[in-house]
Amino acid sequence: MKKIVILISGRGSNMEAIVRAQIPGAEVSAVIANRPDAAGLAFAVDHGIVTQVVDHKAYPSREAFDAALADAIDAYRPDLVVLAGFMRVLTDAFVARYAGRLLNIHPSLLPSFPGLHTHRKAIEAGVRVHGATVHFVTPTLDCGPVVIQAAVPVLPGDDEAALARRVLEQEHRIYPQAVRWFVDGRLTLTDGRVLVQGEGALPGGWTVPPVEA
Ligand code: GRF
Repeated sequence: MKKIVILISGRGSNMEAIVRAQIPGAEVSAVIANRPDAAGLAFAVDHGIVTQVVDHKAYPSREAFDAALADAIDAYRPDLVVLAGFMRVLTDAFVARYAGRLLNIHPSLLPSFPGLHTHRKAIEAGVRVHGATVHFVTPTLDCGPVVIQAAVPVLPGDDEAALARRVLEQEHRIYPQAVRWFVDGRLTLTDGRVLVQGEGALPGGWTVPPVEA
């Protein structure tokens, strides 16, 4: 059984999608939030998952917070740590500690639009295709080897909320998929590139959902 610890900061809908996927061979050992008011904690409690809060405001520095967070995570001895809307920049030491077993989801087709407000940036840039990316975490923010991406169209008349909804639907599809591949031992990381075994050795799973009318 592969143990997973999921880190959240807010709503936690990606955490929910991963829990609901009931991935064979995987168990969510704990959901950890950096904010006591993270809405997603309630879902985890309702589903009998251990929850814990490591409040970043209680620590004098990023290093001190990351050290406390790592201690909390390591108590569950996870095989995989999943960042699911975890809104903290992590120190290099933290990232190095979980190298090769730390995944993140970002709501854009990286390397386009790292950082915040990705949907607004996509609309402002006038791109026709937007999406989401699951990647292994490396020290550079919203960077790192891509595991899977999903693309959605940017439709005329889209505002930030409409585009966010369309992307989020795909996030909920690709994040459980990426975790499943990891749990099945199908992800290999070679020279900074991800190969998904059994996918014809394609560099990651690239999927385009049907365009809705
Ligand atoms: C998602 O769009 C995720 O890609 C981004 O923050 C949002 C978190 O949503 N990093 P949720 O907390 O998973 O509902």
